[in-house]
Order: sequence, then structure tokens, then C-alpha cells
Amino acid sequence: MPSITSFFRIGSVLVVLAAIAYQIVLKVDLPEPFVVKVIKQLFLDTRCYVSVTTLSSKLPNAECISIGRDGRFKKVFLDETSYPYVKQQRKGHVIPGFWDGHGHLLQYGELMNSANLFGAKSMKEVKERLVEYKASNEEAGTSKQWLRGIGWDQANFGGKWPVASDLEVDSKFKDLHVMLDRVDVHCIWVSEKVLSLLPSPLPKIPGGEIPAKGVFCDNAIDIVTKYYPQPSRERKAQFIKDAMFDLNKLGIVGVHDAGVFPEELKLYQELVGEKDWSVRVNAMLECETRNTFCPDDVSQFSTPDGMLQMRSVKLFADGALGSWGSAMIEPYNDHKDSSGSLLVNATTLSKLTKDWATAGYQVNIHAIGDLANRLAIDAFASALDTLCPELPRLECQAKYRFRIEHAQIIHSDDQRRMMGMGIIPSIQPTHATSDMPYAETRLGKSRTASEAYRMRSLLPLNPILGSDFPVEPANIFEGIYAAVTRRSPHTGLDADGGTKGWYSEETITVEDALEGFTINPAYGAFLEGKAGVIQEGAYADWLVLAEPLESMGIESLRKATVLETWVAGKRVYSRPGPLNFYNK
Ligand SMILES: *[C@@H]1O[C@H](CO)[C@@H](O)[C@H](O)[C@H]1NC(C)=O
Ligand SMILES: [Zn+2]
Repeated sequence: MPSITSFFRIGSVLVVLAAIAYQIVLKVDLPEPFVVKVIKQLFLDTRCYVSVTTLSSKLPNAECISIGRDGRFKKVFLDETSYPYVKQQRKGHVIPGFWDGHGHLLQYGELMNSANLFGAKSMKEVKERLVEYKASNEEAGTSKQWLRGIGWDQANFGGKWPVASDLEVDSKFKDLHVMLDRVDVHCIWVSEKVLSLLPSPLPKIPGGEIPAKGVFCDNAIDIVTKYYPQPSRERKAQFIKDAMFDLNKLGIVGVHDAGVFPEELKLYQELVGEKDWSVRVNAMLECETRNTFCPDDVSQFSTPDGMLQMRSVKLFADGALGSWGSAMIEPYNDHKDSSGSLLVNATTLSKLTKDWATAGYQVNIHAIGDLANRLAIDAFASALDTLCPELPRLECQAKYRFRIEHAQIIHSDDQRRMMGMGIIPSIQPTHATSDMPYAETRLGKSRTASEAYRMRSLLPLNPILGSDFPVEPANIFEGIYAAVTRRSPHTGLDADGGTKGWYSEETITVEDALEGFTINPAYGAFLEGKAGVIQEGAYADWLVLAEPLESMGIESLRKATVLETWVAGKRVYSRPGPLNFYNK
């Protein structure tokens, strides 16, 4: 009979052998002292890289990360005590996973399944792309499944609005249901068949415009969408899956989904447990009817694994600049009789903000024009005074974290008010570079210089950066490039072909831009310390790059891609090809 002591002796020898085998097989570096750590290491996945940029004040630069079974970082360390026998061949530079602070998940997935009209330079090219799409999507265009597309811009049609009959592209299109989103998704262009479903005469909708027969902008879009057959649950689930797969490829581990209807939120809740739900989603609730109070339709929640949460609401103050829909204090420079339109008046916006905040929601207001931004700030100021009468606004705001989505054109007085209150701007750097060819025409020189597309001016507010996908491509590197250079990430140039950068005094640094796509969106989603950072206890989400971000030349940053994307300690994307050193 073996004694108890020899049993332990054999046992510890086995543990040591197992640990050595484990080290050799997985090439994990184990620090001393040995046996104690071995037991821990058996339950941790430890990986070492050439460098790990953590964005954490605890240890800004590390080399190794250990991930627990709960999908969180258990240890982040410098490998000064590496076990001498097995030195892992380290490759790659790690940064925290990217967050897109403002995007639209379902629409992105739907776009991936729609006709892509982005960059189509003429009506002829739009038609060609539609024909091509129809050829490979026979079923599109029926009354149950309309043919969708996105990306047209009347600027490419000689500035003339398109009309419904333009969509009689060929005999196959004769009776099709077609609905195409403008590049900024603030207008739709529909076919005759869709028009035939609508009431006649068409109703007048405040905050909406019908600039041509078949084109509906801002609130007028609702006239059509009432008749739009919602994609089936299966199709929507597919859209989400496609979108997440694509976002992971771009290094995105989390998004702020800027407007999710209660029904969609329920679908999200059903799907979140599935294996291919690979992007963290911070959803902003959007009521079935825009700009209303609907707290009974769905309640706030977050899943224990942090893959889905909803604790904020999206309100809309105005429309977009491209279609003269944004609400301005002074008239447009190129439409002297118009200053755009509000989608909601000041009284209602303020009441909604208070009601939602009182119900415990973070309130995120879409505001593009300087009037819309002013009213959003007014609404926040008054809500903060009501919510915490005894606290300074800045302290109250730290609890509620009110945000302005887009925060695009802001009067200098109001920029100062934002600073005073700590209102969070949620900015899309690629909107600045996409709008730079026409923004000054709309706004005039002085308004553009002092109010438009602020980035460096708003830096003390730790702006959340995003892309507004599918309005812009979801590529974060393009967003960083646009923020750092104020030049088009597609061409590398200014609107006039130069390389000075559009109002280059508003550029920010690569480091600031990276924070805008990591720790700032984490704070804006109440996830500070959990997301956008590599430190003990945070979600184990990270990216592997071939080169450190800061040593990439700015022009290579524009075209940079990630080698790998990890979410909750699992690899969700790995770039195929010779540079993929793990799958060899
Ligand atoms: C604001 O809008 C609400 C709802 O449409 C309306 O009832 C109210 O009279 C408006 N208030 C003002 C001051 O225009
Ligand atoms: Zn948006």
C-alpha cells in the first residue's frame, strides 16, 4: 500500500511533468516560483507578444497577457521572469480591440446584402450596378422583399435629384419595388411601384421634404417605410451575423449601435448567446415612433458576459447637412432662404431628455446643425439642473454621461458650454473628410472655420470616435487617418487635391485618435476599466498588428489591416496569408 506521503510525492511529480509538457506544447512562459504558478497556469491562457500597448495607467507597456476562462484578462505583465527552456517565438504588436462609437449594425448587414451604389459616378453607373445586383439576386424587388441599395448621391447626377421613373432601368425593373438610400441615409429614392402604394396626395410631414417625385428626405421617409415589408427574422439574424463577421475583420470588438427599435432589441437578446455573436453591442434604444417616451416597450439590461447591453436612448434633433436638413442658427450660405429644420421643438426635446434621464437612461441626441446642437445642450443643461439640483453640472454629467451624436457644427459659445458641462461629443472623423468638398459652400468660410467638424477643440471632452457605418466604411484605420490628417482616407488628399489637410488646426494625434476608438467609447458606454483597455479584470479583447501603430508611417496607417482580432479571449479573426503566423 503506498503511503499518503508517497501519494503526494507522485502527485506533485505528475503535476510538474504536466506543467512542463503544457509549457512545451503551448509554448507558454512560466515565471518562478514554479509549482504554485503551474496550478494557476493550467487554467489560464497566456500569450506573449513583442509589445502590448495597454492604454492602462497601471502598466502602459507590457508583453504578456493571461486570459481566464471567464473571457477576461487575469494578468498583464512584463516578461522579465521567463522560464529559460521555452522562450516563445514572439510575433506581433498588441493593442486593445477597436470600438466604433456610432454605427448601425442591422443596416450594415442589410447593406452587405444590398446593391452597393457608393462611389457610383453617374446615373448610368447606378443603373449598371442595379442590373448587376438584380442578376445575382433574382428574388429582390417583390412586394415581400424590396430591392434595396445604398450610396447614391445627386451630386453625381449633375446636382439634379433623381426621380422614380429613373428606376425603370430595363424591362426586368418594370414593376419592381425598389428603395435606395442616399449616401447619408437621410433620403430615399423609390420606384414607381413603391409610389403606387402611397396615399395621394402625399401628406405634408414637419421636418420632412420631398424634393423630387420618388425622393423622400428625413421625416418624410416615414411615409414610405410604413409600407416597407420588414425583412424576416431569419434575414435580420443573417444581417447581424454578416455584419459582425465583417467588423471583426476590421479589428472591431465593440460598437455603439446608434438606434435600435424595441423589436430588434428583442431579436438581439435572442441571438446574443449564439457562437457567432462576436461583437460587443452597446445599444441605444430608439422608440418605434421617433422622439417619444417609450420606457415600457423594453427594459434596460446587460448580459453577464458583456456582449450586449442597453442603457441609453437615442433622440433626433435634426437631419443631415448634405440634404440641407440640419438645423442652423443662420441660413445656409447656398440656400439663403433656408436654415434647415428641427425634427422636434425645443420644449419637446427638453421634456424627453428629462423624462428619459429620470427613468435612468443615458440620453444621446443626434445633432448636426448649430441650432440642433444648441438645443441639445439646452436640454442637457436643464435636465442636469433637475436631476441633481445640489451638484455642479459637471459632476451630475459624470453620472448621466449625456452625449451628442455627430456634434458636427457647433457655435463657439456652445462649444464653451459643452466644456463647462462635460457633454460628450460622439464624432465621426470620416464625415469631416467626406463633407469637406461641399461643407464650406453650405456654411460659408467663417462658420466653417469656427464651428464645423471640431476635433482638437473638443479634445478635452474625450470625444468618442466612430464611423456611422454603413454611412461611411467601418474601417477604423481610415477613421484614425481622417482624424490625424483631415485628408480623405480614400485618396490621401484634400478636396482640392492638396495635402495640407482640411482645417488642419483641428487634427489630433494618433494616440488621441486611438483613445477615441477605445477608452473613450468605453467611458461613453459606462464600461471604463472593462473595455478599450488591457488590464486585469477587463474583457479580453485585443488586436494583433504587424507593426506598432505609432511607428507606422501615416500613409501606411491609411491602408493598415489587423492580423488578428480576439474577443473574450477567443480569436474571431485571423488574416489569411503568409503573415498569419499562428495558423502555419
Ligand atoms: C412642440 O411640439 C409639441 C409636439 O409636437 C407640440 O404639442 C407643442 O405645441 C410644440 N411647442 C411649441 C412651443 O411649439
Ligand atoms: Zn447614425
